[in-house]
Amino acid sequence: MKTQFASKIGALAAAAGSAVGLGNIWRFPAEAHSNGGAVFVMMYLICLLLFGIPVMCSEFAMGRGGGGDTATVFTNITPGRKAWRMAGIWPLITAYTILGFYMVVSGWSLEYLVQTLTGDLYAPVAGTDSGSAMFLSKMNKYIATTYRPLVMTLIMIAANAWVLACGVQKGIEKMSKVLMPMLFVILLVFCVVSLMLPGAADGISFFLKPDFSKFTPECLVNALGQCFFSMSLGMGTLITYGSYFPSDTRLARTAGDVAGLDLLVAMLMGVIIFPAVSTFHLTGESLEGQGLVFVTMPEIFSFMPGTMIWSALFFLLLCVAAFTSTISVCEVIVAYFHDHKGMSRIKACIVGLLPLIPICGLCSLSMGLLGHIHIFGYNIFGFLDNLTSNVLLPVGSLMLCIYIGWIAPKKFFSNELTNGGKLRSFLFPCIEFIVKWIAPELILLILLWQFF
Ligand code: PHE
Repeated sequence: MKTQFASKIGALAAAAGSAVGLGNIWRFPAEAHSNGGAVFVMMYLICLLLFGIPVMCSEFAMGRGGGGDTATVFTNITPGRKAWRMAGIWPLITAYTILGFYMVVSGWSLEYLVQTLTGDLYAPVAGTDSGSAMFLSKMNKYIATTYRPLVMTLIMIAANAWVLACGVQKGIEKMSKVLMPMLFVILLVFCVVSLMLPGAADGISFFLKPDFSKFTPECLVNALGQCFFSMSLGMGTLITYGSYFPSDTRLARTAGDVAGLDLLVAMLMGVIIFPAVSTFHLTGESLEGQGLVFVTMPEIFSFMPGTMIWSALFFLLLCVAAFTSTISVCEVIVAYFHDHKGMSRIKACIVGLLPLIPICGLCSLSMGLLGHIHIFGYNIFGFLDNLTSNVLLPVGSLMLCIYIGWIAPKKFFSNELTNGGKLRSFLFPCIEFIVKWIAPELILLILLWQFF
């Protein structure tokens, strides 16, 4: 009997768990702020409708219609097209590169949760007067440390392996059904608190004030890049999850729901962060990436009554968001070894996830001990981060769109969208048209834009 999620809601929770991650929490608010506020949000919305949802539908369709892991689906759908097998291996390469840095960051999140609980994060440091200088020096010191970040990353890898070894229903689905609602509750609590701060209105306008001078192709490319990463497109996670979808799951509906939840979390993060930033008069300098979550947020909490509680809740949120995303990426690897290579799930977890130890190890050490190693001007961490978002994910999506639009049997995609003719919507032909004619061009644009 084929492995499946037990329920549609479980399938939705798992797919949303994959999409909602660090991309929403630390990338979206900063991108929106520096790319023209509401202008960026509008561009993002266009990318989501014109590109994100249709490509997500095709990933789900490939998975459910092809009935297997990423390496199996291409041969199942078109047995004669041997060259396309390579497209099924691409997601595996992407999975290892993405996990290289993403798992390390999830380890940092765990460390900050632990340091909040032990009180170390807020213990004063001699020689630093302002809050942000203190948190910046703490972060820089911590991520350059040799052993401790490695241990935290290892704990996260082990936790992933454990959930995945429990299986699709008892591991992934059960975990998503518990953690995703928890994530939303924490987010809502933060939202209420943030909107009650005196600087709320200023903060929201700082976040969303439209700056039409940013209405440029570059902003579009950024929005498209954010769309890929945030919606987990182009690396087979949604193909793999799609293969576990029950046969009556409405693919387009699920894609719309996942996209909506993903956007909601991203917007809520902006609504949470910027009122606090403006209330406590923080400068915008640490509003990006690791600075935002590991420097600005602790600084904000240090001004609030109940510092420890807010800080613990926030880093728990970060750990949960990162965890459900890494699980989905690891499942691409585990499904390959389990379905394609015929190993037991436990063996597939061990064999598949073991290489993560050296890869993540190199990434983690590249923030300190191995900081002198540069690839194209980046340290190992930065190189893998850029390689994934700028090359591997877009190329993965491009191959998928070409395959679904031009190579797979003509009726394959519409059959999946309509659940074998049972569903009807004027949107389905639009989705097919976009995947065949528009999405590939948009992806090519983003790829070429970076190199020329
Ligand atoms: N979507 C996740 C995020 O926003 C990252 C991710 C990318 C997960 C690709 C799986 C695949 O953080």
